[in-house]
Amino acid sequence: MLHPVVLSGGSGTRLWPLSRQNQPKQFLSLIGDHSLFQETVLRASRLPGVQAPVTVCSDDHRFMVGEQLQGIGIASGGILLEPVARNTAPAIALAALHVASRDPDALMLVMPADHLIEDEAAFRDAVAVARDLAEAGWLVTFGIRPDYAETGYGYILRGDELASGAYQVRRFVEKPDLATAERYVAEGTYAWNSGMFLFRARRYLEELQRHAPAIAAAAERAYAHSRSDLDFVRVEAEAFATSPSDSIDYAVMEKTDRAAVVPVSCGWSDIGSWSSLWSVAERDEDGNRHEGDVISVDTKGSLVRASERRMIATLGVEDLVVIDTADATLVARKDRVQDVKTIVDTLKAAG
Ligand code: GDD
Ligand code: MG
Repeated sequence: MLHPVVLSGGSGTRLWPLSRQNQPKQFLSLIGDHSLFQETVLRASRLPGVQAPVTVCSDDHRFMVGEQLQGIGIASGGILLEPVARNTAPAIALAALHVASRDPDALMLVMPADHLIEDEAAFRDAVAVARDLAEAGWLVTFGIRPDYAETGYGYILRGDELASGAYQVRRFVEKPDLATAERYVAEGTYAWNSGMFLFRARRYLEELQRHAPAIAAAAERAYAHSRSDLDFVRVEAEAFATSPSDSIDYAVMEKTDRAAVVPVSCGWSDIGSWSSLWSVAERDEDGNRHEGDVISVDTKGSLVRASERRMIATLGVEDLVVIDTADATLVARKDRVQDVKTIVDTLKAAG
């Protein structure tokens, strides 16, 4: 059986000032009525033959996750609460232990809570191909055709064809430096790793045990001593804290020889920054995206989001991002918004 697992532990600092520690981006309604988290859960629920979704998130966000699931009428397959963040390798291990405890042959579809997929039919087809490979013991990734040298993604070089539309992974390189990313994109042979994965829960745990035994051991102890409380599963804090902090990409995918890739063209985007939000949002004929009470004259290529507090007017500007909230306003050039996290770091350092 296929169990969707939604990873919802990130904080989304590049979407400050809307995204905050207690209200990370995946829980905000950035596009449309639903949050990215809700969109992800709904997308999973529309796949054929799936179980209720399992969420892995910070203990701080338990009520938000509960409310957001309730808001879309989705019954939870469990909300696993992390007392501290240890990145995705241990988070996925907790989910694997959880689903395998109920269904020893469980397949899990790991989905980050902060992605958009425009072509759901193409995504569903890719999941069907991936499912067969996962049944056969492969750790399946979904490959996206890269359109620029993004250094924040993983890159996948495909090898032999395993089935129609699926290949063995020859190399997996997480977050290469810019020169390497540029070379990969120019060569045209690499795909971006989408960050979604499909595998048997037990296969993941075996590979984790082989390549990152300290993470496997910590997750196992933390889950074994967890306490359940309605939908919530509180993993044991001391054991979980002993886990090294690492992502599935570095800890497992770069190392395993059992990785496969299903290339998919499904209008995938990772909503990581204000410019990526601008690029997927609907815009007017001047390339502007306005939200709330906004007036713009001679303005082009900009994202302007007013809060309920006041109106925003722009005049004679291009490629700007203006985000107003009750207690902070961001004004930035659109090509600099990757650096918004430095503002957050500065604020944190200032206490
Ligand atoms: N529960 C939980 N706990 N979730 C986490 C944690 C954690 O400690 N850390 C991150 N996540 C969630 C994030 O909220 C996000 O949904 C997902 O896991 C991926 O984490 P990111 O931190 O966003 O990873 P990334 O963007 O740097 O890289 C990954 O995604 C890229 C595509 O967007 C990698 O898989 C790359 O290879 C990939 O290209
Ligand atoms: Mg990400």
